[in-house]
Amino acid sequence: MRILSIETSCDDTGISILEIRGAKAPSFKVLSNIVSSQEIHKKYGGVFPMMAKREHQKNLIPTMKEALKESKLLKIKKQKTQKVDGHLFFDVKKILKKEDALFLFVKEFLEKYEKPKINLIAVTNGPGLEPCLWAGVNFAKAISFFWNIPIVPVNHIEAHILVNFLNHKSYIVNPKETFPIISLVVSGGHTQLILMKGIGKYKIIGETRDDAAGECFDKAAKILGLGYPGGPIISKLAKNRDPISIFKNRDRVSIKLPRPMINTKDYDFSFSGLKTAVLYSYQKSKIKNQKYIQQMCFEVQQAIIDILIKKTIKAAKNYKVKTIILGGGVSANKELRKQLKEKIQKDIPNTKCLIPDTALSTDNALMIAVVGYFNRTKKIAWQKLSVNANLRV
Ligand code: KG4
Ligand code: ZN
Repeated sequence: MRILSIETSCDDTGISILEIRGAKAPSFKVLSNIVSSQEIHKKYGGVFPMMAKREHQKNLIPTMKEALKESKLLKIKKQKTQKVDGHLFFDVKKILKKEDALFLFVKEFLEKYEKPKINLIAVTNGPGLEPCLWAGVNFAKAISFFWNIPIVPVNHIEAHILVNFLNHKSYIVNPKETFPIISLVVSGGHTQLILMKGIGKYKIIGETRDDAAGECFDKAAKILGLGYPGGPIISKLAKNRDPISIFKNRDRVSIKLPRPMINTKDYDFSFSGLKTAVLYSYQKSKIKNQKYIQQMCFEVQQAIIDILIKKTIKAAKNYKVKTIILGGGVSANKELRKQLKEKIQKDIPNTKCLIPDTALSTDNALMIAVVGYFNRTKKIAWQKLSVNANLRV
Protein backbone atom coordinates (compact mmCIF):
# COMPACT_ATOMS: atom_id res chain seq x y z
CA MET A 1 0.00 0.00 0.00
CA ARG A 2 1.02 3.62 -0.44
CA ILE A 3 0.40 6.40 2.06
CA LEU A 4 0.56 10.10 1.30
CA SER A 5 1.12 12.06 4.50
CA ILE A 6 0.80 15.71 5.44
CA GLU A 7 2.40 17.58 8.35
CA THR A 8 1.68 21.24 9.15
CA SER A 9 1.46 21.37 12.95
CA CYS A 10 4.05 24.13 13.41
CA ASP A 11 6.40 25.86 10.99
CA ASP A 12 7.43 23.01 8.68
CA THR A 13 5.30 22.03 5.70
CA GLY A 14 5.89 18.34 5.06
CA ILE A 15 4.60 15.85 2.48
CA SER A 16 5.84 12.30 2.23
CA ILE A 17 4.95 9.14 0.34
CA LEU A 18 5.64 5.80 1.97
CA GLU A 19 5.23 2.40 0.33
CA ILE A 20 4.63 -0.58 2.61
CA ARG A 21 4.91 -4.22 1.62
CA GLY A 22 4.03 -7.24 3.75
CA ALA A 23 1.69 -7.32 6.74
CA LYS A 24 3.32 -9.10 9.70
CA ALA A 25 6.84 -7.99 8.89
CA PRO A 26 6.25 -4.81 6.91
CA SER A 27 9.01 -3.40 4.79
CA PHE A 28 8.94 0.34 4.39
CA LYS A 29 10.16 2.07 1.26
CA VAL A 30 10.36 5.84 1.47
CA LEU A 31 9.39 7.18 -1.96
CA SER A 32 9.76 10.80 -0.85
CA ASN A 33 9.92 12.96 2.26
CA ILE A 34 9.87 16.67 1.45
CA VAL A 35 10.07 19.28 4.18
CA SER A 36 9.75 22.91 3.39
CA SER A 37 10.93 24.92 6.41
CA GLN A 38 9.55 28.39 6.86
CA GLU A 39 12.48 30.78 6.99
CA ILE A 40 10.22 33.76 7.72
CA HIS A 41 10.14 33.05 11.49
CA LYS A 42 13.90 33.45 11.91
CA LYS A 43 13.74 37.22 11.92
CA TYR A 44 10.99 37.27 14.57
CA GLY A 45 12.68 34.80 16.94
CA GLY A 46 9.58 32.59 17.14
CA VAL A 47 6.56 31.29 15.25
CA PHE A 48 3.44 33.42 14.76
CA PRO A 49 0.60 30.95 14.07
CA MET A 50 -1.30 33.01 11.50
CA MET A 51 1.88 33.82 9.60
CA ALA A 52 2.83 30.14 9.64
CA LYS A 53 -0.64 29.19 8.39
CA ARG A 54 -0.28 31.48 5.37
CA GLU A 55 3.12 29.97 4.63
CA HIS A 56 1.60 26.47 4.74
CA GLN A 57 -1.08 27.58 2.27
CA LYS A 58 1.67 28.76 -0.08
CA ASN A 59 3.90 25.72 0.42
CA LEU A 60 1.47 22.80 0.38
CA ILE A 61 1.01 22.41 -3.37
CA PRO A 62 4.69 22.95 -4.36
CA THR A 63 5.72 20.51 -1.61
CA MET A 64 3.18 17.93 -2.74
CA LYS A 65 4.23 18.29 -6.37
CA GLU A 66 7.84 17.70 -5.41
CA ALA A 67 6.91 14.67 -3.27
CA LEU A 68 4.82 13.12 -6.06
CA LYS A 69 7.46 13.87 -8.66
CA GLU A 70 10.22 12.27 -6.60
CA SER A 71 7.96 9.25 -6.10
CA LYS A 72 7.32 9.10 -9.86
CA LEU A 73 3.60 9.54 -9.22
CA LEU A 74 3.06 12.97 -10.78
CA LYS A 75 1.25 12.51 -14.10
CA ILE A 76 -0.32 15.23 -16.21
CA LYS A 77 -3.93 14.50 -17.19
CA LYS A 78 -4.75 13.89 -20.82
CA GLN A 79 -6.23 17.14 -22.20
CA LYS A 80 -9.60 15.56 -22.98
CA THR A 81 -10.38 14.59 -19.39
CA GLN A 82 -9.27 17.86 -17.83
CA LYS A 83 -12.72 19.40 -17.55
CA VAL A 84 -14.61 16.25 -16.52
CA ASP A 85 -14.37 16.81 -12.78
CA GLY A 86 -15.26 20.51 -13.00
CA HIS A 87 -18.42 20.26 -10.89
CA LEU A 88 -16.44 18.91 -7.92
CA PHE A 89 -14.61 22.20 -7.47
CA PHE A 90 -17.72 23.76 -6.02
CA ASP A 91 -17.37 21.43 -3.02
CA VAL A 92 -13.58 21.74 -2.90
CA LYS A 93 -14.06 25.49 -2.56
CA LYS A 94 -16.46 24.92 0.34
CA ILE A 95 -14.00 22.58 2.08
CA LEU A 96 -11.28 25.20 1.69
CA LYS A 97 -13.41 28.21 2.61
CA LYS A 98 -11.14 29.02 5.56
CA GLU A 99 -8.03 28.43 3.45
CA ASP A 100 -8.88 30.91 0.71
CA ALA A 101 -5.26 31.40 -0.35
CA LEU A 102 -4.99 27.65 -0.91
CA PHE A 103 -8.06 27.04 -3.05
CA LEU A 104 -6.71 28.41 -6.35
CA PHE A 105 -3.46 26.46 -6.02
CA VAL A 106 -5.39 23.28 -5.23
CA LYS A 107 -7.83 23.77 -8.10
CA GLU A 108 -5.07 24.36 -10.60
CA PHE A 109 -3.22 21.27 -9.35
CA LEU A 110 -6.24 18.95 -9.35
CA GLU A 111 -7.24 20.13 -12.83
CA LYS A 112 -3.82 19.48 -14.24
CA TYR A 113 -2.68 16.23 -12.64
CA GLU A 114 -4.08 12.72 -12.48
CA LYS A 115 -5.12 11.06 -9.24
CA PRO A 116 -1.92 9.39 -7.98
CA LYS A 117 -1.79 5.73 -7.03
CA ILE A 118 -2.25 6.26 -3.29
CA ASN A 119 -4.35 4.11 -0.92
CA LEU A 120 -4.45 6.30 2.16
CA ILE A 121 -3.93 9.90 3.29
CA ALA A 122 -2.42 10.45 6.76
CA VAL A 123 -2.55 13.92 8.28
CA THR A 124 -1.51 15.46 11.60
CA ASN A 125 -4.61 16.66 13.44
CA GLY A 126 -2.91 17.57 16.73
CA PRO A 127 -1.26 18.62 18.90
CA GLY A 128 0.12 21.82 17.44
CA LEU A 129 -0.75 25.39 16.49
CA GLU A 130 -4.44 25.35 15.66
CA PRO A 131 -4.43 27.55 12.53
CA CYS A 132 -1.50 25.55 11.14
CA LEU A 133 -3.16 22.21 11.85
CA TRP A 134 -6.29 23.38 10.03
CA ALA A 135 -4.29 24.27 6.91
CA GLY A 136 -3.06 20.66 6.61
CA VAL A 137 -6.34 19.08 7.66
CA ASN A 138 -8.47 21.12 5.26
CA PHE A 139 -6.00 20.38 2.49
CA ALA A 140 -6.23 16.66 3.32
CA LYS A 141 -10.02 16.85 3.29
CA ALA A 142 -10.06 18.55 -0.12
CA ILE A 143 -7.86 15.96 -1.82
CA SER A 144 -9.54 13.08 0.03
CA PHE A 145 -12.89 14.24 -1.29
CA PHE A 146 -11.69 14.92 -4.83
CA TRP A 147 -9.70 11.72 -5.24
CA ASN A 148 -11.93 9.59 -3.02
CA ILE A 149 -9.11 8.35 -0.79
CA PRO A 150 -9.74 7.70 2.94
CA ILE A 151 -7.96 9.62 5.70
CA VAL A 152 -6.26 8.53 8.92
CA PRO A 153 -5.77 11.32 11.50
CA VAL A 154 -2.36 11.19 13.19
CA ASN A 155 -1.12 12.36 16.58
CA HIS A 156 2.10 14.31 16.08
CA ILE A 157 3.65 13.04 19.34
CA GLU A 158 2.95 9.41 18.46
CA ALA A 159 4.63 10.11 15.12
CA HIS A 160 7.82 11.37 16.82
CA ILE A 161 7.90 8.01 18.64
CA LEU A 162 6.87 5.50 15.97
CA VAL A 163 9.19 6.94 13.30
CA ASN A 164 11.82 4.95 15.18
CA PHE A 165 10.32 1.70 13.83
CA LEU A 166 10.95 2.71 10.22
CA ASN A 167 14.30 0.96 10.01
CA HIS A 168 13.72 -1.61 12.75
CA LYS A 169 11.38 -4.26 11.46
CA SER A 170 12.44 -6.66 14.23
CA TYR A 171 10.91 -4.35 16.83
CA ILE A 172 7.52 -4.74 15.18
CA VAL A 173 7.88 -8.46 14.56
CA ASN A 174 8.96 -9.26 18.14
CA PRO A 175 6.83 -7.06 20.40
CA LYS A 176 7.62 -9.25 23.40
CA GLU A 177 11.27 -8.29 23.11
CA THR A 178 10.49 -4.63 22.53
CA PHE A 179 7.79 -3.62 25.03
CA PRO A 180 7.42 -2.09 27.54
CA ILE A 181 9.07 1.04 26.21
CA ILE A 182 9.80 4.39 27.79
CA SER A 183 9.65 7.16 25.21
CA LEU A 184 11.08 10.58 25.86
CA VAL A 185 9.51 13.07 23.45
CA VAL A 186 11.29 16.41 23.47
CA SER A 187 10.18 19.09 21.03
CA GLY A 188 9.42 22.79 20.83
CA GLY A 189 6.01 22.30 22.42
CA HIS A 190 6.34 19.09 24.44
CA THR A 191 8.48 17.25 26.95
CA GLN A 192 6.84 14.00 27.91
CA LEU A 193 7.85 10.62 29.28
CA ILE A 194 5.48 8.02 27.89
CA LEU A 195 5.18 4.41 29.02
CA MET A 196 4.20 2.18 26.10
CA LYS A 197 2.90 -1.34 26.55
CA GLY A 198 2.25 -1.78 22.86
CA ILE A 199 1.50 0.29 19.79
CA GLY A 200 -1.49 2.43 20.77
CA LYS A 201 -1.18 1.56 24.48
CA TYR A 202 0.32 4.68 26.00
CA LYS A 203 0.41 6.38 29.39
CA ILE A 204 2.02 9.76 30.01
CA ILE A 205 3.94 9.24 33.27
CA GLY A 206 5.54 12.68 33.36
CA GLU A 207 5.70 15.94 31.46
CA THR A 208 6.81 19.52 31.72
CA ARG A 209 4.88 21.77 34.04
CA ASP A 210 5.84 24.89 32.09
CA ASP A 211 8.22 25.29 29.14
CA ALA A 212 9.22 22.41 26.88
CA ALA A 213 12.91 21.50 26.53
CA GLY A 214 13.00 22.79 22.93
CA GLU A 215 11.29 25.97 24.04
CA CYS A 216 14.03 26.42 26.66
CA PHE A 217 16.69 26.12 23.93
CA ASP A 218 14.72 28.62 21.81
CA LYS A 219 14.16 31.13 24.62
CA ALA A 220 17.75 30.93 25.87
CA ALA A 221 18.94 31.57 22.30
CA LYS A 222 16.65 34.57 22.07
CA ILE A 223 18.02 36.02 25.34
CA LEU A 224 21.57 35.55 24.02
CA GLY A 225 20.60 37.17 20.69
CA LEU A 226 21.32 34.04 18.66
CA GLY A 227 18.16 33.70 16.53
CA TYR A 228 15.58 30.97 15.97
CA PRO A 229 15.37 27.98 16.28
CA GLY A 230 17.68 27.97 19.28
CA GLY A 231 18.55 24.28 19.62
CA PRO A 232 20.84 23.90 16.58
CA ILE A 233 22.63 27.23 17.24
CA ILE A 234 23.17 26.53 20.93
CA SER A 235 24.52 23.04 20.27
CA LYS A 236 26.93 24.39 17.64
CA LEU A 237 28.27 27.12 19.93
CA ALA A 238 28.47 24.70 22.87
CA LYS A 239 30.67 22.45 20.78
CA ASN A 240 32.99 25.31 19.88
CA ARG A 241 33.55 26.15 23.51
CA ASP A 242 37.21 25.92 24.37
CA PRO A 243 37.39 24.86 28.04
CA ILE A 244 41.15 25.26 28.30
CA SER A 245 41.38 28.85 27.14
CA ILE A 246 38.37 29.75 29.24
CA PHE A 247 40.24 28.44 32.20
CA LYS A 248 43.45 30.28 31.33
CA ASN A 249 41.81 33.53 30.39
CA ARG A 250 41.91 36.21 33.06
CA ASP A 251 38.33 37.13 32.17
CA ARG A 252 37.39 33.54 32.52
CA VAL A 253 33.74 32.89 32.68
CA SER A 254 32.28 30.51 35.15
CA ILE A 255 28.60 29.85 34.74
CA LYS A 256 26.64 27.35 36.71
CA LEU A 257 22.97 26.95 35.94
CA PRO A 258 20.39 25.13 38.08
CA ARG A 259 18.84 21.77 37.12
CA PRO A 260 15.23 22.35 38.20
CA MET A 261 13.31 19.31 39.47
CA ILE A 262 16.16 16.94 38.67
CA ASN A 263 15.81 15.10 41.98
CA THR A 264 12.03 15.11 42.42
CA LYS A 265 10.35 11.74 42.88
CA ASP A 266 7.94 12.18 39.98
CA TYR A 267 8.71 12.16 36.26
CA ASP A 268 7.75 15.77 35.64
CA PHE A 269 9.98 18.52 34.30
CA SER A 270 10.27 22.29 34.62
CA PHE A 271 12.41 24.41 32.34
CA SER A 272 11.15 27.95 32.87
CA GLY A 273 13.46 28.50 35.88
CA LEU A 274 16.43 27.51 33.77
CA LYS A 275 15.50 30.07 31.16
CA THR A 276 15.16 32.74 33.87
CA ALA A 277 18.58 31.78 35.26
CA VAL A 278 20.05 32.35 31.78
CA LEU A 279 18.40 35.75 31.64
CA TYR A 280 19.68 36.84 35.07
CA SER A 281 23.19 35.61 34.38
CA TYR A 282 23.23 37.41 31.04
CA GLN A 283 21.95 40.64 32.55
CA LYS A 284 24.44 40.52 35.40
CA SER A 285 27.49 39.47 33.45
CA LYS A 286 29.95 42.26 32.62
CA ILE A 287 31.57 40.14 29.96
CA LYS A 288 29.34 39.17 27.07
CA ASN A 289 31.99 38.13 24.58
CA GLN A 290 32.05 35.07 22.34
CA LYS A 291 33.63 32.98 25.08
CA TYR A 292 30.85 33.89 27.49
CA ILE A 293 28.20 32.98 24.91
CA GLN A 294 29.87 29.67 24.13
CA GLN A 295 30.20 28.81 27.79
CA MET A 296 26.57 29.73 28.40
CA CYS A 297 25.43 27.59 25.48
CA PHE A 298 27.42 24.69 26.84
CA GLU A 299 25.83 25.09 30.27
CA VAL A 300 22.25 25.45 29.01
CA GLN A 301 22.63 22.38 26.84
CA GLN A 302 24.23 20.34 29.62
CA ALA A 303 21.61 21.38 32.19
CA ILE A 304 18.81 20.27 29.86
CA ILE A 305 20.61 17.00 29.03
CA ASP A 306 21.28 16.21 32.71
CA ILE A 307 17.61 16.63 33.61
CA LEU A 308 16.27 14.66 30.65
CA ILE A 309 18.66 11.74 31.10
CA LYS A 310 18.23 11.49 34.87
CA LYS A 311 14.44 11.22 34.68
CA THR A 312 14.45 8.90 31.67
CA ILE A 313 16.85 6.41 33.23
CA LYS A 314 14.89 6.52 36.48
CA ALA A 315 11.65 5.75 34.64
CA ALA A 316 13.31 2.99 32.61
CA LYS A 317 14.58 1.32 35.77
CA ASN A 318 11.34 1.65 37.72
CA TYR A 319 9.15 0.34 34.92
CA LYS A 320 11.71 -2.31 33.92
CA VAL A 321 11.43 -1.43 30.27
CA LYS A 322 13.10 -3.30 27.43
CA THR A 323 13.52 -0.27 25.18
CA ILE A 324 14.07 3.48 25.47
CA ILE A 325 12.96 5.66 22.58
CA LEU A 326 14.02 9.25 22.06
CA GLY A 327 11.99 11.46 19.71
CA GLY A 328 11.10 15.05 18.81
CA GLY A 329 13.15 17.97 17.49
CA VAL A 330 15.51 18.08 20.49
CA SER A 331 16.52 14.46 19.76
CA ALA A 332 18.58 15.96 16.91
CA ASN A 333 20.96 17.19 19.61
CA LYS A 334 24.22 15.24 19.22
CA GLU A 335 25.29 15.53 22.86
CA LEU A 336 21.91 14.36 24.14
CA ARG A 337 22.02 11.35 21.80
CA LYS A 338 25.57 10.49 22.80
CA GLN A 339 25.15 10.99 26.55
CA LEU A 340 21.85 9.09 26.69
CA LYS A 341 23.38 6.10 24.88
CA GLU A 342 26.42 6.17 27.17
CA LYS A 343 24.28 6.33 30.29
CA ILE A 344 22.10 3.43 29.15
CA GLN A 345 25.21 1.41 28.36
CA LYS A 346 26.60 2.12 31.81
CA ASP A 347 23.48 1.79 34.00
CA ILE A 348 21.07 -0.52 32.15
CA PRO A 349 23.11 -2.20 29.39
CA ASN A 350 20.40 -4.71 28.47
CA THR A 351 18.01 -1.94 27.49
CA LYS A 352 17.71 -1.20 23.78
CA CYS A 353 17.80 2.42 22.64
CA LEU A 354 16.15 3.82 19.53
CA ILE A 355 16.86 7.35 18.26
CA PRO A 356 15.78 8.55 14.79
CA ASP A 357 18.20 9.73 12.10
CA THR A 358 18.71 13.44 12.76
CA ALA A 359 16.75 14.31 9.61
CA LEU A 360 13.75 12.50 11.10
CA SER A 361 14.09 14.05 14.57
CA THR A 362 12.61 17.39 13.61
CA ASP A 363 9.15 17.74 12.08
CA ASN A 364 8.59 15.84 8.84
CA ALA A 365 5.72 14.04 7.14
CA LEU A 366 7.38 10.63 6.91
CA MET A 367 6.79 10.09 10.63
CA ILE A 368 3.10 10.85 10.01
CA ALA A 369 2.96 8.19 7.30
CA VAL A 370 4.46 5.62 9.67
CA VAL A 371 1.64 6.19 12.19
CA GLY A 372 -0.82 6.20 9.29
CA TYR A 373 0.40 2.67 8.55
CA PHE A 374 0.04 1.41 12.14
CA ASN A 375 -3.43 3.03 12.37
CA ARG A 376 -4.50 2.07 8.84
CA THR A 377 -7.71 0.47 10.08
CA LYS A 378 -8.75 3.69 11.82
CA LYS A 379 -9.52 5.52 8.60
CA ILE A 380 -12.38 8.00 8.58
CA ALA A 381 -14.45 9.90 6.02
CA TRP A 382 -13.16 13.40 5.37
CA GLN A 383 -16.35 14.96 6.80
CA LYS A 384 -15.53 13.51 10.23
CA LEU A 385 -12.00 14.89 10.44
CA SER A 386 -11.29 17.70 12.91
CA VAL A 387 -8.36 19.32 14.69
CA ASN A 388 -7.37 19.16 18.34
CA ALA A 389 -4.53 21.55 19.20
CA ASN A 390 -4.16 19.90 22.64
CA LEU A 391 -4.44 16.29 21.53
CA ARG A 392 -2.73 13.82 23.89
CA VAL A 393 -1.49 10.30 23.22
O1 KG4 B 1 9.68 18.43 16.86
P1 KG4 B 1 10.06 19.78 16.36
O2 KG4 B 1 10.71 19.89 15.01
O3 KG4 B 1 8.80 20.73 16.35
C1 KG4 B 1 7.81 20.65 17.33
O4 KG4 B 1 7.01 19.70 17.29
O5 KG4 B 1 7.89 21.52 18.25
O6 KG4 B 1 11.00 20.43 17.48
C2 KG4 B 1 11.49 21.71 17.33
C3 KG4 B 1 12.39 22.02 18.51
C4 KG4 B 1 12.84 23.46 18.57
O7 KG4 B 1 12.62 23.95 19.87
C5 KG4 B 1 14.32 23.38 18.26
O8 KG4 B 1 15.09 24.39 18.90
C6 KG4 B 1 14.68 22.01 18.76
O9 KG4 B 1 13.57 21.21 18.42
N1 KG4 B 1 15.89 21.48 18.13
C7 KG4 B 1 17.03 21.21 18.82
C8 KG4 B 1 17.98 20.79 17.86
N2 KG4 B 1 17.39 20.82 16.63
C9 KG4 B 1 16.11 21.23 16.83
N3 KG4 B 1 17.31 21.30 20.13
C10 KG4 B 1 18.55 20.99 20.52
N4 KG4 B 1 19.53 20.60 19.68
C11 KG4 B 1 19.29 20.48 18.35
N5 KG4 B 1 20.27 20.10 17.52
ZN1 ZN C 1 7.39 17.95 16.44
